[in-house]
Amino acid sequence: MKPAVVYSNVWEDPELNRLSLKVQPGQNVLSITSGGCNSLCLLLEDPGRLVSIDLNPAQLAMLEFKRAAIIELEYDEFIDVIGVPFLFKPEKSPEYRIELYNRIKKHMPAYATEFWDENQHHIKNGMMMCGKVEKFFKIYRTLLGFLYGKDELMSLFKAENLESQREIYASFRKKRWNALHRLLLNRAVLSLVKGAHSFAQVDFEDFAGNLNKKRTLGMTRFFNPDNYFMCLLMLGGHYHENGMSPYLLRENYPKLKKNIDRLEIFMGTIGDVLKKDGPGSYDRFNLSNIFEWMTNDVFNGIIREVIELARPGSRMAWRYTFARPRELDAQNLSRLAYEPELSDELFRQDMAFIYESFHVYHLK
Ligand SMILES: C[S@@+](CC[C@H](N)C(=O)[O-])C[C@H]1O[C@@H](n2cnc3c(N)ncnc32)[C@H](O)[C@@H]1O
Repeated sequence: MKPAVVYSNVWEDPELNRLSLKVQPGQNVLSITSGGCNSLCLLLEDPGRLVSIDLNPAQLAMLEFKRAAIIELEYDEFIDVIGVPFLFKPEKSPEYRIELYNRIKKHMPAYATEFWDENQHHIKNGMMMCGKVEKFFKIYRTLLGFLYGKDELMSLFKAENLESQREIYASFRKKRWNALHRLLLNRAVLSLVKGAHSFAQVDFEDFAGNLNKKRTLGMTRFFNPDNYFMCLLMLGGHYHENGMSPYLLRENYPKLKKNIDRLEIFMGTIGDVLKKDGPGSYDRFNLSNIFEWMTNDVFNGIIREVIELARPGSRMAWRYTFARPRELDAQNLSRLAYEPELSDELFRQDMAFIYESFHVYHLK
């Protein structure tokens, strides 16, 4: 089967990585790639090396594309070639995006140009929304649009402040929305999108109920126009230029360009990185939610590899979308210290409101 992009965006708040990992200038960071966004955000912290890994070559091709664009292009061209969607700005033409792609190709390895040559339609349509997850969200948005109409949905984004947004949400007609969640967000449909293995460690069946609660959380904790996760999910674009992932912000582009040669893109697991770089070669670890579907034994095996890779003072963070947290065994517990207060505090400020928990540890 040909590799396909599952996530063209990272649906994880990069602020949680920044505030938990506390990267010091010059440190080596290992980061799970997904859509590449959060690896690029960590590059803004001035690491010595930022090694971004993934098992799926299509995800790595996403990051290769963004890396090549950052090397070659000016800020506005970068935003145009990756197809950053805005709600109130006209889109660039597909031909213009291909023209820019032809300029950046020379900075990509062969596997990435082969992938993008074969998938030029993704570039033409805006590759930032080309993942399977993003396509699923598009279906979700379309159905919501049928159920409510644009104006009613937009009312949730037009409040003057968070207080009045809470009031609008409280009186919003939610019955249809909840019914849509029952239809679309159940184990069977989600397994089709993400693979049944993804939910092997989930204790509950009521996915729709779980996501209804998280939706309420998202709608009542964060001001929607500033929450780019909510805007992308429900409206399909950014509300304004300041409400975007930090790596997309104009003011951060010079630093991104300056640090881009510190980014290494690597296909493989944490165990492969250990074989390649040897013990004691990293200080910080962004582990995304890679443990979501794993058994305790597999989880503890990977944590042992992380510990072997870690230098004194190392920090690491991971999260779960639906699954119960895995438990560290005695050996790993003797090496890692949990930071419960910071974990809880950061979890409460997670603008990507769909997660179940966030976990911060450091090497003892
Ligand atoms: C765990 S998924 C989660 C995505 C994320 N929640 C998001 O919103 O983007 C992120 C990426 O991790 C990769 N991945 C999963 N397990 C991995 C592992 N053991 N080593 C390296 N990459 C892994 C997947 O291929 C996927 O692209």
